[in-house]
Amino acid sequence: MAYAQIVGWGMHVPSRVVGNDTFVKMGLDTTHDWIVSRTGIEERRIAGKDEATSDLAVRAARRALNVAGAHASEIDLVIVATCTPDHLMPATASLVQNRIGATHAGAMDLNAACSGFVYALAMGAGQIEASRAKQVLVIGADELSIYLDRRDRSTSVLFGDGAGAVVLRAAPEPGVLYSTMGSDGSGADLLIIPAGGSRIRNNGKSNGRGNGDRYLRMNGPQIFRSATQIMAQAAEKVIANSGLKPDQVDLLIPHQANLRIIESTARRLGIPAQKVFSNVGQYGNTSAASIPIALCEAIGTGRVKRGHNVVLTSFGAGLSWAALTLRWGVNVDAHVAPWTPIRQSVETQVAAMRSALRRQGRRVGATISERLHRDDS
Ligand code: UT7
Repeated sequence: MAYAQIVGWGMHVPSRVVGNDTFVKMGLDTTHDWIVSRTGIEERRIAGKDEATSDLAVRAARRALNVAGAHASEIDLVIVATCTPDHLMPATASLVQNRIGATHAGAMDLNAACSGFVYALAMGAGQIEASRAKQVLVIGADELSIYLDRRDRSTSVLFGDGAGAVVLRAAPEPGVLYSTMGSDGSGADLLIIPAGGSRIRNNGKSNGRGNGDRYLRMNGPQIFRSATQIMAQAAEKVIANSGLKPDQVDLLIPHQANLRIIESTARRLGIPAQKVFSNVGQYGNTSAASIPIALCEAIGTGRVKRGHNVVLTSFGAGLSWAALTLRWGVNVDAHVAPWTPIRQSVETQVAAMRSALRRQGRRVGATISERLHRDDS
């Protein structure tokens, strides 16, 4: 059996930083102190109008490919975990696949809300372990800011935008040790964007409820309670099934929704604070991007070393949850070869040219077949 190792990682967040005071200035009935004391969040990044989810995902993906020293054309599968795709269809993963030049890859989106990245990592690892893929690009990318009602203080201050990506590669040693996924759809209404799908059409305007249904709604306290219990239970399960004891965990990276949830999860697991990574203060809750962004920053600050046991645990709308244990298998200080970014930039330009040529080819083909059809009739 092949094993799956993370060999590349990268993140990208929008440049626009929005501090807590911005909400106060906008007239929201809140304070910086309330937000920090109840959530730990000090600021978040918000995407600009021209910055779609795929734009963030592509930049994170290129960085991950750089670190992995991988050609985009060698990737077998691109999975984008997102609940805020560019369009309902096609999949954002196909847009990413085209732009990075992953010419031999399948591409699909995975929606498990904030748990999406850990789900996608487990699915990608499964493909490698079943020898159906050698390299999988797994991305978590979300722009929940688009769905926030700026008048709702209980949700608008919590979320930010971003993307994180990893390259999984077949290796002789694990890698991904164990994973678990779970769902309880009886809690679907606790965290929901009601409109935009087939249930509530026309953004809710047709049912006389205005367009309020296009905004994210959350029962904060219930989500809080479930998150603390379930993230700890899921982590306990993967730690035990990996043959580890809690004191053998070198780093816990929980979903970054609220510092109090992170601390409570760690307490339940008996994992001390110095082994827990959090950057919710800088980015808020970036949904499916939160764990890969945290992983990148944990690596960047020297918190992940070869041989470390790393536990990821997540929870989100669905309700959905997932956890996964990793034995970190690569040197994190391995520098990127100087020619890699140059090669990547050439590949990107070639991908853009290929995409334009294909589009042009399809247009020409359609015109010819139309003319032939006219001549026949
Ligand atoms: O990715 C997974 C999804 N999200 C989460 O995991 C988030 C889970 N939930 C939470 O993080 C917390 O429940 C919140 C941060 C959303 C809320 O914190 P809380 O301590 O659970 O507050 P609460 O909902 O019990 O509300 C307490 C009070 C309420 O006022 P009243 O009714 O007591 O007068 C809220 O209206 O705090 C009020 N409140 C605020 N006050 C100032 C809620 N949001 C704010 C705010 N500023 N931004």
